[in-house]
Amino acid sequence: MRRIAMVVATVAVAAVAAGTVGAETFGVRKRIPRPEAYGRVVMDTYATKAKVAPVVFDHWNHRMQYTCRLCHVDLGFAMRAGETGVREQDNRHDLYCGACHNGKEAFGWQRQERKGLTSKPVKQCDRCHSVGKPDAPKADFYAATKGLPKSAYGNHIDWLAAEAQGLLHLKDELPGVTRKRKPIRYAGEVVIHAREFNMPEIVFSHTKHAVWNGCEMCHPDIFGVEKGVTKFTMQDIFEGRFCGACHDKVSFPVNFDCRLCHTKDVF
Ligand code: HEC
Ligand code: HEC
Ligand code: HEC
Ligand code: HEC
Ligand code: HEC
Ligand code: HEC
Repeated sequence: MRRIAMVVATVAVAAVAAGTVGAETFGVRKRIPRPEAYGRVVMDTYATKAKVAPVVFDHWNHRMQYTCRLCHVDLGFAMRAGETGVREQDNRHDLYCGACHNGKEAFGWQRQERKGLTSKPVKQCDRCHSVGKPDAPKADFYAATKGLPKSAYGNHIDWLAAEAQGLLHLKDELPGVTRKRKPIRYAGEVVIHAREFNMPEIVFSHTKHAVWNGCEMCHPDIFGVEKGVTKFTMQDIFEGRFCGACHDKVSFPVNFDCRLCHTKDVF
């Protein structure tokens, strides 16, 4: 009798644990996105309700030109899909997408089309509101990324090498819009112990991360600045927190090669 009660209790605990992890975490191998779709965000907080097509935002064509920090710190974009709450009015007042998509830094909501001596404004909503619009003008992924060093995962571009080889010139500020700042150099390499027998340790490079993220993408929201104060596990990362706040969404995936992070053999 007691034995049966124990078995029931164990099954109940296991069911609760599986429930907290979420039905999508285990049991099915995730689909691997196409290279240009890795880091794609479909924004639809207001669009469908307002009877316009949802907006497609791709990371690959934006990270070719800008640091993550510029958008996610200075311009205020959230790092979770759908959390920013951008409105068309914001964009028309030079905020969020409109900080660039104003016809100066990048295309805006309308452009002037010349016909002989006269010119008239032409709306270009579909370039952003592109879901279900196969004819919307699109940047050509292969043409735009030609000549960049390749990788075998994510966008299939080795972003770190591309920047290090001087093939990308990342802008970290928008003159007149964001505040000019002087980057902090912090060359420290943090070795993170994997806390599991046999699992190689993780060497975290501040130098390489700071190029894209500055300091403020990570500190203090994601990580504390005292070694060891932030407690997390691999499961947290797989669920999109800590290193997983970027990796597996925009930065390289976590289920491709564990060795990308677990680089240092313990024995
Ligand atoms: C041009 C601006 C811009 C740049 C540059 C940029 N992002 Fe984003 N990012 C966005 C926007 C916009 C969203 C969607 C926000 C929303 O839906 O509210 C987003 C979303 C995200 C998300 C959440 C994705 C998801 O599926 O939940 C992550 C993670 C992220 N960005 C990381 C990065 C990293 C890392 C970099 C640099 C390699 C970067 N971003 C560069 C604008 C940018
Ligand atoms: C640079 C990209 C971009 C362009 C160009 C653009 N939009 Fe948007 N628009 C957005 C984003 C981002 C949202 C927020 C989407 C969401 O989360 O629902 C949005 C939202 C909207 C909404 C939802 C209601 C609201 O208050 O936000 C309407 C309506 C809209 N846009 C109309 C237009 C029209 C009409 C045009 C062309 C004249 C246009 N947009 C051009 C990016 C763009
Ligand atoms: C920091 C500047 C910046 C911000 C912020 C930004 N973009 Fe862009 N975006 C660009 C640039 C530059 C291009 C390249 C095209 C150009 O030069 O006009 C581009 C290209 C695009 C394209 C590709 C269009 C095509 O021809 O395929 C889309 C779609 C787009 N952006 C949507 C958005 C949306 C939606 C947002 C806000 C959620 C946003 N962008 C925020 C700078 C920015
Ligand atoms: C991509 C995320 C990320 C970025 C960007 C980042 N850090 Fe860190 N930082 C970490 C992690 C992870 C740790 C280790 C935390 C731990 O061990 O608990 C850390 C630890 C630290 C520490 C504690 C001392 C040490 O070496 O362990 C300091 C100081 C620090 N960071 C400063 C900075 C500065 C300054 C910048 C900007 C140049 C920066 N960080 C950028 C993730 C980041
Ligand atoms: C704020 C976003 C962000 C967070 C958080 C983050 N990374 Fe990264 N990481 C990046 C970006 C951007 C790159 C550049 C390559 C790419 O995007 O795929 C990168 C590259 C790397 C690389 C390759 C560079 C190298 O050192 O060889 C490793 C390894 C790495 N990250 C490990 C980690 C680990 C471990 C953590 C957590 C302790 C972490 N990252 C947290 C954004 C992030
Ligand atoms: C983005 C970098 C990154 C990638 C990719 C990665 N790990 Fe980790 N892993 C970490 C970090 C950081 C820790 C340390 C967390 C801690 O304090 O335990 C860790 C810890 C671990 C641990 C120790 C126990 C635990 O739960 O924390 C195991 C086991 C582990 N990882 C397995 C894997 C496996 C298997 C893969 C490949 C499928 C993988 N990791 C890929 C960053 C990574």
